[in-house]
Amino acid sequence: MRRAARDHEHERTEVVLPNKRANVKNEKQYEALKEKGMSKERAARISNSSGSSSRVQMGLHSLDDVLQEQVKDLESAEKQLVAALPKVAEAAHSPELKEAINEHLEETRGHVQRLEEVRGLLGMDRSVTTCQAMQGLVAEGEELLADEGDPVAKDAAIIAAAQRIEHYEIAAYGTARTLAGELDHRDAEKLFSETLDEESAADKLLTKIATGGLFKSGVNKAAKA
Ligand SMILES: [Fe+2]
Repeated sequence: MRRAARDHEHERTEVVLPNKRANVKNEKQYEALKEKGMSKERAARISNSSGSSSRVQMGLHSLDDVLQEQVKDLESAEKQLVAALPKVAEAAHSPELKEAINEHLEETRGHVQRLEEVRGLLGMDRSVTTCQAMQGLVAEGEELLADEGDPVAKDAAIIAAAQRIEHYEIAAYGTARTLAGELDHRDAEKLFSETLDEESAADKLLTKIATGGLFKSGVNKAAKA
């Protein structure tokens, strides 16, 4: 039995690998990445991921290139949040949490505007990229919104997902601010700083809501019942 399962696995491995190779969307990019010494798996992943082609083709030749990539990635992340947050606010049970999410939605629209300003300050072109990390974070959040359950437990899960997102953004804006500072882009540095402060405040507010009685307002009792 065990042997049969192992044989089956072996057979599957042999079948899957050629298929994976045949499914490479951007053949030219895949070959170029392999020539640079990248593993087949990584080259295939990059070639198949939407939006990443501009990143690879442009290349990273200077700190300015790195900063511009960060800006594009953040712009994609923030736009995905603008689209996702209304559903999150609607799903929140606690009025305090709902209000905090709606306020952050407004702030997030401002974050997109600041990034557009930064694009101008840095003289960037209009090319875009897709923040795949945010796609994953939003997808996980949407999964839990679809779950049935205790309203307080769901609010706690919303806060957990929102704080993962905030911490991701805090890390990204911290890096962008530092890079802008190192490159003497003072105006861009200031704009990153303003957004970073708002992201940090949003994160702290979520902790305050969670520890201000929300977790003790029913979920424990319901779990014991
Ligand atoms: Fe933001």
